[in-house]
Amino acid sequence: MDVVVVDGQDLLGDRGAALVLRELRADPGLVLGVATGSSPATTYRALVRARTTGVDFSEVRCVALDEYVGLPTSDPRAYDAVLRREVAEPLGVRPENVLVPDGNAADPGRAADAFEAAVRRLGGVRMQLLGIGRNGHLGFNEPGSAFDSRTRLATLSATTRADNARFFEGPEDVPEHCLTQGLGTIMESAKIVLLASGRQKAAAVAAAVEGPVTEACPASVLQRHPDVTVIVDREAAGRLTASLAT
Ligand code: GLP
Repeated sequence: MDVVVVDGQDLLGDRGAALVLRELRADPGLVLGVATGSSPATTYRALVRARTTGVDFSEVRCVALDEYVGLPTSDPRAYDAVLRREVAEPLGVRPENVLVPDGNAADPGRAADAFEAAVRRLGGVRMQLLGIGRNGHLGFNEPGSAFDSRTRLATLSATTRADNARFFEGPEDVPEHCLTQGLGTIMESAKIVLLASGRQKAAAVAAAVEGPVTEACPASVLQRHPDVTVIVDREAAGRLTASLAT
């Protein structure tokens, strides 16, 4: 793992965007895995700034990590809506090139399989951007998720529902279920960039980067991936050992 510690969220976004832009230069049709949440927000903003200087994202394919079950796609809190509004539209990614699991499918298992098949047809994700939950989750793979799990129907933990309550009326208003890429699915991305900021992520980052590789901390599976860059601000790096946090 390559661990990069930066001062502040803007620099975090600049570093994240630089990695994406390098991939984009190599392949204008980059298959980019996009996370929702606050962690990648400054990276998306830096990419939008790059667009204003002439970088072309029109051939990029965006692949979502997860989606709530039961929110209409038009609901502004559905990840489909969030990713289109906050990532695809500002970057000029074509709407038909945004792939999100269908959280409204009558058969979520089939929707999960269809999503996996669509990712395979794209040739897999080249670079996956990830945030991390306070409990070490990736996507919506909560503690205990199998390392070889695939895209599937999953249940949100109480911690995650509490954390995501800020987007809803309250924790009880947060959907209970989701479709999420599995940890096995995420691990098939050629490159992974984990972004985290703030003291509240410090324990999860330390467990993911330096702790035992255990399903109790889903993000610790990344220690087994050959190409992971972890970009964190000083606060999120606060519980890493001194040797890494330079
Ligand atoms: C959410 C999302 C994850 C995200 C994580 C952290 O529940 N499903 O994909 O990475 O929690 O969110 P944030 O970056 O807002 O802290």
